[in-house]
Amino acid sequence: MINFPKLFPSLFPLSKFCFLPFLLSLVSLLFLLDLASGIGSMGPISASYGQNGVFCAIDASGRQEVICWGNKTNTSVSTSASLYPADLPPMAALSGGAGFLCGIVANTSQAYCWDSKGSNSDLVPPSYKTNSYFHIAAGTTHVCAIRGSYYSESHWGSVDCWDIFRHSNDYLSSNPSYLDQNVSTLVFQKVVSGNGFSCGVARQGGIVCWGPNSSRLGVPVTQGNFVSLAAGFDSVCAVPENSGGTKCWGFNSSFVTPPSGIRLVSLTAGARHFCGIREDDHGIECWGNFNSSLIPKGSGFLAIASSDYVSCGIREADLVLDCWFASGSPPIDYDPPLQLCSPGLCTSGSCGEGKFAFNASFLSEPDLTSLCLRKDLKICSPCGSNCSEGYFPSSPCTENADRVCTACTLCQNSSCWDVCGMQSSPEFKHQHLHQFHQLLIIIGSSVAGFLLILVAWYLLPRVLPTKNKEGKKGTFACCFGAKPQPEVEAVSDVIPPAAIVQCPGIAQVFRLSELKDATNGFKEFNELGRGSNGFVYKAVLPDGRQVAVKRANAATIIQTNSREFEMELEVLCSVRNGNIVNLLGYCAEMGERILVYEYMPHGTLHDHLHGGLAPLNWPLRLKIAMQAAKGLEYLHNEVVPPIAHRDVKSSKILLDADMGARITDFSLIAPSESDLNQDKRADVYNFGIVLLEILSGRKAHDTECDPPSIVDWALPLIRHGKAAAIIDRYIALPRNVEPLLKLADIAELALREDPSRRPIISDFALMLELLVKEGLIL
Ligand SMILES: *[C@@H]1O[C@H](CO)[C@@H](O)[C@H](O)[C@H]1NC(C)=O
Ligand SMILES: *[C@@H]1O[C@H](CO)[C@@H](O)[C@H](O)[C@H]1NC(C)=O
Ligand SMILES: *[C@@H]1O[C@H](CO)[C@@H](O)[C@H](O)[C@H]1NC(C)=O
Ligand SMILES: *[C@@H]1O[C@H](CO)[C@@H](O)[C@H](O)[C@H]1NC(C)=O
Ligand SMILES: *[C@@H]1O[C@H](CO)[C@@H](O)[C@H](O)[C@H]1NC(C)=O
Ligand SMILES: *[C@@H]1O[C@H](CO)[C@@H](O)[C@H](O)[C@H]1NC(C)=O
Ligand SMILES: *[C@@H]1O[C@H](CO)[C@@H](O)[C@H](O)[C@H]1NC(C)=O
Ligand SMILES: *[C@@H]1O[C@H](CO)[C@@H](O)[C@H](O)[C@H]1NC(C)=O
Ligand SMILES: *[C@@H]1O[C@H](CO)[C@@H](O)[C@H](O)[C@H]1NC(C)=O
Ligand SMILES: *[C@@H]1O[C@H](CO)[C@@H](O)[C@H](O)[C@H]1NC(C)=O
Repeated sequence: MINFPKLFPSLFPLSKFCFLPFLLSLVSLLFLLDLASGIGSMGPISASYGQNGVFCAIDASGRQEVICWGNKTNTSVSTSASLYPADLPPMAALSGGAGFLCGIVANTSQAYCWDSKGSNSDLVPPSYKTNSYFHIAAGTTHVCAIRGSYYSESHWGSVDCWDIFRHSNDYLSSNPSYLDQNVSTLVFQKVVSGNGFSCGVARQGGIVCWGPNSSRLGVPVTQGNFVSLAAGFDSVCAVPENSGGTKCWGFNSSFVTPPSGIRLVSLTAGARHFCGIREDDHGIECWGNFNSSLIPKGSGFLAIASSDYVSCGIREADLVLDCWFASGSPPIDYDPPLQLCSPGLCTSGSCGEGKFAFNASFLSEPDLTSLCLRKDLKICSPCGSNCSEGYFPSSPCTENADRVCTACTLCQNSSCWDVCGMQSSPEFKHQHLHQFHQLLIIIGSSVAGFLLILVAWYLLPRVLPTKNKEGKKGTFACCFGAKPQPEVEAVSDVIPPAAIVQCPGIAQVFRLSELKDATNGFKEFNELGRGSNGFVYKAVLPDGRQVAVKRANAATIIQTNSREFEMELEVLCSVRNGNIVNLLGYCAEMGERILVYEYMPHGTLHDHLHGGLAPLNWPLRLKIAMQAAKGLEYLHNEVVPPIAHRDVKSSKILLDADMGARITDFSLIAPSESDLNQDKRADVYNFGIVLLEILSGRKAHDTECDPPSIVDWALPLIRHGKAAAIIDRYIALPRNVEPLLKLADIAELALREDPSRRPIISDFALMLELLVKEGLIL
């Protein structure tokens, strides 16, 4: 047995860090919406680069606390130790340099710079420490900031710059850096910094660059404003306000082919790549030295940042961090923490055209009314103008909410037909096919002649084999268990259902003609699935009931004798449970072996996790895990004689009308006592694999992954306390991920290499029930 108290109160390293109670109060205000930050830009998330590259982000706790994470490849440092430093003041905005980061302190507007190796001492030169700034940009070895209170209404200010030196003893220090006369007299709106240069958007219009390496960039004298600006080591990209394109200058190998014809709302730069957020679906575009296959697909982002080789973003769907790599990335493990992060910078006033104010109630945290320290501030983000493939915009952007994207499977009328009609998502195909099938059924059933031909076609060839079996056993001439009926009458389809059944009150005896009608003559378009033993069809009985009809194929019929079918029926009749796909009836007429089961309208767990069916949320996933365990527990322990399933997998777990989990396709062969125990332990192991699939969304075996086996991939991570790394990030995470980490530990128990050390299925049912009762806070 399992020691529950030992398992349940165990604290997981990451969860301790999730919502550290930080101090602090008060406020911030920002006028400029620059949500992206890479080398030298400012945003709610930013990264230092170089050997000690670290990402930092402002969290979504409402306290504007800074969370940081770095390269975790260093195995001598535990997962949590890479989250540091824990005691920075709350920040309004962040920007990263080489080996250091800077921010604007939320309650004072003062600049604050710290060594990303871990020391928190402020590196801002004393002469600048007391100034207020509303914008800050750290370059490789210098920082420029625009003067002005973070709380004032002013959008413009003059620039201060300072250098940050790393001494031979690894100690950082700083000095003011004096600008040339021409730049120090200008006022700026935003600024970015690279390697030996900074560029700003000046009031007189256009981009002005300064610093020893600025002339190499060749930024032309232009007019107009820019919505976003990002500086790499040796190049600059900008999105002009009134044009869709992105313009880049400098060393051209860093930005080969910036996206054209796509409007980006924010930019970030790594060492040799740039990324941006698309205005339409908030998807990611990257260019330069970049392998596009690594960009996250299908999620929208509200803010992004880059270090040398890694870019991380804050997803719009759930404010969860997601990171991806550039080409040629060295071995580096940037597994981001699970905290939710602020999608933008806090600002005052209205958000203006094309932007919406983030509504914290979306996070379902009763105590969280605002992500900003001061409740009158808001976070403004650009509205999406479209949705990604497979989704349609179902409500437009308003002052308080972004446009809403709805899955095309839920598209109900012509308003979304065009957008979804062009899609080729599996959901859509599935639905389309389904409608097509329904049409065929209608056509089919309205043409009497068509049916007649079908019936004749199905019945006639079956007369022969049935005749051959005639002398064997009479029962198969008609429904099993009924009195033998003359052959000829069977063909004429007029035999009434037999009255004597093997399990009265449970299994109904169906007539072949009835099932043929209900399945349109066992036509392909009624097919739900096929296995080596035959086909499964969806059928609608005359009373309107939907059922699943499992019809053995000829080979199976020949291989098994009628006694075996009888025995199978006996087993099936003994099984009846809310977590099993139960038998409703059968038909053995005309030599057929047909079993009629409850119909499961929501398909298989496998298809929800890996196929085209709607993704499942966390509470549902936990409930399904628990119910599947209960179904197996019933088979293992309650049925007499006990049954081992012998093929537990996510495609054998079906979902009923209430999304309840039901086990199907269990083995009907009665094994010996010792084989039974061995098979039960194998069931537990396979159930562990299903738990990993539920937790990670990954297939049990995926040749596109390395290692392909989910067990080989996930078990070492769970055993090294990194269970958080396997959690499916394609659906919104709950606020508290602890139950999911526990689920990982439960899966680990099931997957113990030594079968005798695996708990029995009842233990899993109990553990999962406790987990479901604990509840998930979404
Ligand atoms: C990450 O850390 C490992 C081990 O400390 C090191 O070999 C690797 O170069 C680091 N990667 C980066 C990009 O800093
Ligand atoms: C790993 O981290 C430890 C502790 O912080 C540090 O002493 C060690 O130098 C690091 N190793 C590498 C290769 O970065
Ligand atoms: C700003 O926060 C610090 C704590 O980090 C606090 O000591 C200080 O009083 C606050 N300043 C203002 C003006 O509230
Ligand atoms: C400052 O501007 C003047 C006139 O526009 C120009 O002649 C001079 O070269 C500039 N100085 C620097 C250091 O760029
Ligand atoms: C200017 O660029 C060169 C080459 O990229 C670099 O070595 C140098 O350090 C840069 N200058 C400054 C002041 O950063
Ligand atoms: C990059 O710049 C060099 C020289 O400035 C030029 O020869 C080359 O064609 C450019 N490459 C691209 C891809 O534009
Ligand atoms: C891009 O990454 C994928 C997956 O890691 C890899 O298979 C492919 O070879 C890479 N392509 C290039 C051009 O590096
Ligand atoms: C929206 O995006 C879909 C593809 O996701 C595209 O087919 C459609 O043309 C887009 N609509 C607009 C108005 O851009
Ligand atoms: C935020 O959303 C909640 C619930 O959807 C709504 O009641 C509230 O009015 C919204 N707040 C704002 C400022 O729109
Ligand atoms: C289409 O259906 C949605 C709900 O699915 C509804 O809100 C909308 O008004 C409908 N549009 C039309 C044109 O019927």
